Amino acid sequence: MIAVYISFPMKAKVFWQLKNITMFFPGVVALNNVSLDIYKGEILGLVGENGSGKSTLIKCLSGIYQPQKGEFYYQGKPVKISSSMLARKLGVSTVYQEFSLVPTLTVTENIFLGRLMKDKKGFVDWGTMYEKTKSILDTLKIDIDPNKIIYNLSVAEQQLVEIAKGYTANGSLVILDEPTTALTAPDIKRLHELLRRLASTGHTIIYISHRINEVIEVVDRIAVLKNGELAGIANISEITMNGIVKMMSGRHIAEHYPKQCNVQNEVILKVENITTENGVNGVSFEIRKGEVFGLAGLLGSGRTEIARALFGVDKITSGKIYFKGKKVKFNNPRQAIEAGIAYITENRKTDGLFFNLNGPKNSTTAKIKKLFRSNRLRILDLKKECKIYDESNKKLKIEPMSKYKMVGFLSGGNQQKVVVSRWLFSEADFFIMDEPTQGIDIGARLEVYNIINELMAASKSILLISSDYLELISMSDTIGNLKFGRITSIKDAKDVDKKLIINSSV
Ligand SMILES: Nc1ncnc2c1ncn2[C@@H]1O[C@H](COP(=O)(O)OP(=O)(O)OP(=O)(O)O)[C@@H](O)[C@H]1O
Ligand SMILES: [Mg+2]
Repeated sequence: MIAVYISFPMKAKVFWQLKNITMFFPGVVALNNVSLDIYKGEILGLVGENGSGKSTLIKCLSGIYQPQKGEFYYQGKPVKISSSMLARKLGVSTVYQEFSLVPTLTVTENIFLGRLMKDKKGFVDWGTMYEKTKSILDTLKIDIDPNKIIYNLSVAEQQLVEIAKGYTANGSLVILDEPTTALTAPDIKRLHELLRRLASTGHTIIYISHRINEVIEVVDRIAVLKNGELAGIANISEITMNGIVKMMSGRHIAEHYPKQCNVQNEVILKVENITTENGVNGVSFEIRKGEVFGLAGLLGSGRTEIARALFGVDKITSGKIYFKGKKVKFNNPRQAIEAGIAYITENRKTDGLFFNLNGPKNSTTAKIKKLFRSNRLRILDLKKECKIYDESNKKLKIEPMSKYKMVGFLSGGNQQKVVVSRWLFSEADFFIMDEPTQGIDIGARLEVYNIINELMAASKSILLISSDYLELISMSDTIGNLKFGRITSIKDAKDVDKKLIINSSV
């Protein structure tokens, strides 16, 4: 396919040029002759379906991968980006889709990793590094203690630290690969303000995201990748959201949130005044059969903590839970799964996937007993494993190679689809979905929404947590708003004002 260029006059100087970048992995052409000019001081959006080559392109520019063919020009001169160190020297600073933070180190240690500051005597100067980290976090209005260990932070907080790290590296080309999957609207607004500030002081930014409605608010131009090729590039003032989606997927998506209602009277889950060791503070709510109960709230408001308490991960110190009419107490996730609860976690890296196993193995772990040829002989029926995987694949369109590839080598969105497929296979009655569509492209999101509708039609129930407020309001029947671990209101989703949820005061 020949890329369609929608060209336009641009006064700015060409900063970086990519010419015919081509990169293949065993069995896939990830990038095919991608040529692109990047202008000084612009914010360039880079979008495309899952597996279209966005992260691969960024990794080539950041010196992680060496493309088999093609050239890079930096300010008109050809350059070879043979290592990430060289990329950094050329001013490329990247926030990767998969976090690069070391979980056992503190925020300060991560931010200064590889560039520790020393005092006059040659000792590591922790005091100064702490102060610098604090001032960077303050500038970015990020309220996180620099001494906190990374693994104690939520996914969204880790994303903010990643962004701060990219910011301190102070590159002239700042690349953000899906920085907002877990960020709520106020944080995204702040990030966009920062990007505009950076661009106005001459920094160039490449911004990758599947939340097209957010991207178009901040970028100057948008480049679309499709199957590893550049499908088009346009000035943001000259293209609509639908135009972008059409270029990405080749189809017109008219309905973004196809919500269907089937709420019944029977209550499946009743939570009475629960408090946990981990920040849930006297929470009560009910979820009925066929109902999607959405949890709104800012970062740190306790949404994920409620999910963890229901699934038997965090200890409940007081209060009661009734599930399917019976009082229950889950001491661990296994008991919750056996009772009929499924949990799509927000962090596929640490709680979700086995990165060294293939798609089918990951997909079937939640109900492995179903795959035994017999209960006595605990031998796995591998044909059945593949058949079940193919079933969910039909709906979610997971990359075909995922049947053989370790999921660690799949694109970010395809990894998320594997997480979703696992729980669909579990046949639970109640689904906790924490950021289920993070990193999933717009076409596949629609499939996830259709699956939510199918689950509701089958009288299942969902607790939905999503930082994408449009998704949350549109796909929920009821919205509970959380603040500091407490529910401040429960409303019919139809009565929730979108503007209020952005400021998180439903
Ligand atoms: N290290 C690797 N080994 C094998 N295949 C890979 C590797 N990295 C990427 N690929 C393949 O290259 C293709 C492009 O992947 P890439 O990660 O660039 O997609 P993406 O556009 O970033 O997708 P997403 O939106 O899901 O993050 C995919 O088919 C992917 O499976
Ligand atoms: Mg990617």
